[in-house]
Amino acid sequence: MTTRITIRKPDDWHLHVRDGEMLKAVLPFTAKHFGRAILMPNLVPPVRTCADGKAYRERVIAALPRGSTFKPLMTCYLTDDTDPDDVERGFRDGVFTGVKLYPAHATTNSAYGVTDYNKITRVLERMEKIGMPFLMHGEYVATDVDIFDREKVFIERLLSKWIRQFPGLRMILEHLSSKEGVDFVKSAAPQLGGTITPYHMMLTRNDWLGHGLKPYMYVMPVIKTERDRLALRRAAASGEACYFLGTDSAPHPYAKKVSVSGIPGMFNAPVAIETYAQVFEEEGALDKLEAFASLNGPKHYRMPPNEETITLEKTPWTAPEEVKVPGPDQRALIYRGGETISWKVVN
Ligand code: DOR
Ligand code: ZN
Repeated sequence: MTTRITIRKPDDWHLHVRDGEMLKAVLPFTAKHFGRAILMPNLVPPVRTCADGKAYRERVIAALPRGSTFKPLMTCYLTDDTDPDDVERGFRDGVFTGVKLYPAHATTNSAYGVTDYNKITRVLERMEKIGMPFLMHGEYVATDVDIFDREKVFIERLLSKWIRQFPGLRMILEHLSSKEGVDFVKSAAPQLGGTITPYHMMLTRNDWLGHGLKPYMYVMPVIKTERDRLALRRAAASGEACYFLGTDSAPHPYAKKVSVSGIPGMFNAPVAIETYAQVFEEEGALDKLEAFASLNGPKHYRMPPNEETITLEKTPWTAPEEVKVPGPDQRALIYRGGETISWKVVN
């Protein structure tokens, strides 16, 4: 039985670290084990321009623990009015790694998201031309679409069309949540890649809704069925180049999660790489963890993998229940808080 594994330092290709006191409280958890992370731009207000991206990156760097070598990778929040020239400038100047699509009203802080897909054609054409990645919250939100089908319908109505319309555009379908999503990514690779969260591989909607409502398990895209969970685990554990690590760690103040109108997002950074290791062990695929966590993402984003390594050991520890954040009731619940976690990072 493997009890110790050393892999190249992983990267997180989908992460929310927020701003202000929350940023300072949560960023160290990721900076400790990950080399780089793609930072989501859904702040209030969002990171919509090259100038916003530069300013946010400075605030992130200022929040890093002293001596940290962690590198934040910034994204531009796409709106109906995004200027292709500003996006190109941001990419060429090394400010933006990619552009992120939030369909309007699909999730947390998506009110400024895209409402009319005809309006983003010029931006997508420009990104295709300059080789800039397109990151998608892949859900179609409409009254005729059931919330459990949003990912599937996004693929049917939009993504399958874009794959043909923009054959040179590198895309990422983020936080895959369904068997349909997993299968589509494989069919459209290598143009398309997909990230997978730890919690979509661990939980089903029975865990979320079936034994007392667990508001902290409310995320977007919503956690689905056992069939979907198994497809996600197999995809990740296959080590195939089109699937890679993206935690979607998304902290919120406790009162916003546990509320009559709760907000989606799960803060998992404190247990993320350890939970992925558990999943890969359960799938008998620890030898594929490095590909998923540390190699496939950089390859898709055309970056070199990290040179440093991390070592994980089979040593049980107890995850903290929450992280304290200065300010009135700002503390954030931690995914798997209070549980025994089987793998531990030891260096
Ligand atoms: O559950 C989610 N939370 N999904 C998202 O897409 C956004 C995120 C957040 O920002 O809280
Ligand atoms: Zn997210």
